[in-house]
Amino acid sequence: MPRTVAVLSLGGAPGVTMTAMALAASWPQEPGALLVEADASGGDVGTWRRLFVSPGLTDLAAAARHERSDAAGAGPLEHAQVLDGGLPVCPAPASADRADGAVRLLAQNTSALASPSGHVTVLDLGRLAPRSATAHLAAHADVALLLVRDDLAQLRRLQESARYLFETLPRAWTVVVGGRGSTAEIASTVGLRVWGRVPDDDRSAAFLRGEAGLRRPERRPLFRAVASLSQAVVRETAAQQVRMEVPL
Ligand SMILES: Nc1ncnc2c1ncn2[C@@H]1O[C@H](COP(=O)(O)OP(=O)(O)O)[C@@H](O)[C@H]1O
Ligand SMILES: [Mg+2]
Repeated sequence: MPRTVAVLSLGGAPGVTMTAMALAASWPQEPGALLVEADASGGDVGTWRRLFVSPGLTDLAAAARHERSDAAGAGPLEHAQVLDGGLPVCPAPASADRADGAVRLLAQNTSALASPSGHVTVLDLGRLAPRSATAHLAAHADVALLLVRDDLAQLRRLQESARYLFETLPRAWTVVVGGRGSTAEIASTVGLRVWGRVPDDDRSAAFLRGEAGLRRPERRPLFRAVASLSQAVVRETAAQQVRMEVPL
């Protein structure tokens, strides 16, 4: 099982926060997952879900600074607020000037992301900037999911970043948001591993933003796609562990 799954983009707003929330909320294995919104440009979850400013990312980062890197800390759960529906979240401050410092601190103390309770930490890293604290956190994760919208500008940016991504995030998967059909052509054009698509699903998006109820979210297209994504992540990390344990 992965300990940390990072979700990030190269720019635009393909749906990193939505997908990270859905992934954490529907994690398939016990005891489940929690969401750490470590977006250096500022968070949205606190506003969407009307959370308190604290506890959250800032508290997690401050506590991380005081923990020895070799000691097991209390973990992100200690600094989380629980959403209606049960998902624990460490929300980022809404503004970049406050969120950025917390993300930098966290990148210097990544052991703070591990949960002694066994929860998987889903990290919303927002937008990747080369050689940043965000890039460091992405490289630390067991799996990094790089989200890209199915539009020309975002696919072009992905294509031009492919070499950098391949070298710095070898465990990254590309996930396409929106559009239709096979992603094989995108994969062969950019030369990166592409998992598949997360569909546009306005009702699930409104549900995740806390604006509307849903009777059976697990039947909606967004949640169905994210359920098979999380299963793929679980299989991938199990295979990674086998590769590490078996001497070549
Ligand atoms: N799969 C989706 N279907 C419909 N709307 C979406 C989807 N993903 C994101 N959105 C909407 O697009 C906007 C940006 O999404 P968000 O998750 O905040 O992007 P990011 O974190 O990449 O900036 C939000 O209003 C969100 O509700
Ligand atoms: Mg976001």
